[in-house]
Amino acid sequence: MCGIVGYVGYQGAGPLLLEGLQRLEYRGYDSAGIAVLTPSGEIAIRKCTGKLGNLIACLQGDEMPQGVSGIGHTRWATHGEPSDINAHPHMDCRGDIVVIHNGIIENYRQLKRQLQEEGHTFVSQTDTEVLPHLLEKFLSQGNDLETAMRRLMPQIEGAHAILVLSRHEPGKIVAARIGNAGGVVLGYGEGEMHVASDLPAILPYTRHMAFLHDGEMAVITTKGAAYCRSDGTVVQKDSQIVPYDPIAAAKGGYKHFMLKEIMEQARSVTDTIRGRLSLEPPDVLLEDIPFSIEECCSFSRILAVACGTSWHAALVGKFMIEELCHIPVEVDYSSEFRYRRPILTKDNLLISVTQSGETVDTLAAMQEARQRGIRQITICNVVGSEATRVADGVIYTHAGPEIGVASTKAFTSQLVAFYLLALYLGKARGVISQHRMKELVDDLAHLPNLVGRLLEQDGQYDSLAQQFNQRSDFLYLARGVNYPIALEGALKLKEISYIHAEGYPAGEMKHGPIALIDKRMPVVAICLRDTVYEKMLSNIEQVKARGGLVIALATEGDEEIASKADYVIYVPPISHLLSPVLTVIPLQLLAYHIALQRGCDVDQPRNLAKSVTVE
Ligand code: G6P
Repeated sequence: MCGIVGYVGYQGAGPLLLEGLQRLEYRGYDSAGIAVLTPSGEIAIRKCTGKLGNLIACLQGDEMPQGVSGIGHTRWATHGEPSDINAHPHMDCRGDIVVIHNGIIENYRQLKRQLQEEGHTFVSQTDTEVLPHLLEKFLSQGNDLETAMRRLMPQIEGAHAILVLSRHEPGKIVAARIGNAGGVVLGYGEGEMHVASDLPAILPYTRHMAFLHDGEMAVITTKGAAYCRSDGTVVQKDSQIVPYDPIAAAKGGYKHFMLKEIMEQARSVTDTIRGRLSLEPPDVLLEDIPFSIEECCSFSRILAVACGTSWHAALVGKFMIEELCHIPVEVDYSSEFRYRRPILTKDNLLISVTQSGETVDTLAAMQEARQRGIRQITICNVVGSEATRVADGVIYTHAGPEIGVASTKAFTSQLVAFYLLALYLGKARGVISQHRMKELVDDLAHLPNLVGRLLEQDGQYDSLAQQFNQRSDFLYLARGVNYPIALEGALKLKEISYIHAEGYPAGEMKHGPIALIDKRMPVVAICLRDTVYEKMLSNIEQVKARGGLVIALATEGDEEIASKADYVIYVPPISHLLSPVLTVIPLQLLAYHIALQRGCDVDQPRNLAKSVTVE
């Protein structure tokens, strides 16, 4: 989970960078670093693992590097020994440039191999380190920093936010944004410029802001910024005044927190993955799991407990764990588990899933397991919450604060956390071969980019919602790992639009819900090109035969479905186990736009609460 800040101006850069990083502290991280260009023309780097306080303590008095331009970074990683080496900023071989970065470089292995063959020496295990070396290569060919960045941008795959500083071009930061891994916001001051990943980092200094869009870069100096794309096309961009309303500022220009949280999912899933994935050798690093390999092998059964949207995440998690770890998983509502005296044995593992870590039923289920001596871990979003104190181990989702009552980004991060856990346990138990691990890890590394691509196609939901916003009932159908997404899609719609909606496994439709279908009934069908594709097509035919209206979620390139469904929303091709992370996003957006058009209070729906701390 990364926070990025940068400064060029006339004040001491070091203290300003630390202040900016402190304002991003809520995002969570486990190491931090700054780089400042000193008056003698050297780049002074200071990095420290652990809390930002550690870095601040190291930089007291004379230790603070002097200089009026610099960049700073907080990195989120849970694996290995706390590593100063892996903390950002990262340097090239000659110590000429320094880089900070948010994102996963999907093709970093081949870039690293190529750069090593060309003589570059790497010191860290990060993917980020290819960036300074690649820039070094372009700079050595006679380019300036801006041109080097322009040449770099098309070379790296994935979604990224990057800042770079060169000792040969003082008073300048070059920033780039590729895809949707994270924002880059520039703050205009008098004779100084700020840049950061998030608004709160620079709001205290200026309200004049400009935002980089996908594929854009900025050359930032004390006089302002010049914008272009990687092909050199100049981009005209004026700063806008961001009102100093902390709520509005926190909404980052979006009308609602829910929409902001939906739109930031490329970044939030990246933050869940960050530091936990090794591409070479392919592996998952979950330091948070407190069990030895032997203990992991000893679990004969997993029980998952959760409420609401988190319960749907647990249902998807069941598919992941059963397929990748060969451990049977039972999923319970926490409120049922706590009162039904479940049969538990010592070789069971309890997994609780909770965004807030404060949901009373889930905490009670955890207490029950604890009293009966069952080991447990929690998948949780809120650092230090009650659930994290009760469980033996915590997998933090690191999705960042979720304000909208209807859970969106926390859900997709929970799915990613389950996937990471399934890979970890599957490997420990010898179910996942090295070859399979590589495929599974590669699939996950590509995920943020696919989420970003899907979110770019958000223009279709407004008109789709207009067709349906006056309906009184909806049915959501899917099979297999996407069946819980049908439940989640229905829940999202009813939570925020107050339309009655039901989710069903499509195979069950003929045992009841089919009686409801007529021409007033929209049916949302998740029908990807997977093993149940033909079965889903038959279900769609059955709906159509009864006059129902079908909105299908289909795999990009599937033309057949367009002749069967009334509306098709396409999602990029993806492995079936990760497909729920994509399929839920159109359903979140559809629910949002329908609720908006019905005039509902999207962020605070009637009768609902974000944390349910009473029974
Ligand atoms: C409430 C919220 C839901 C959430 C559920 C479980 O009902 O409105 O969005 O899914 O609680 O909350 P938890 O924090 O345990 O995930």
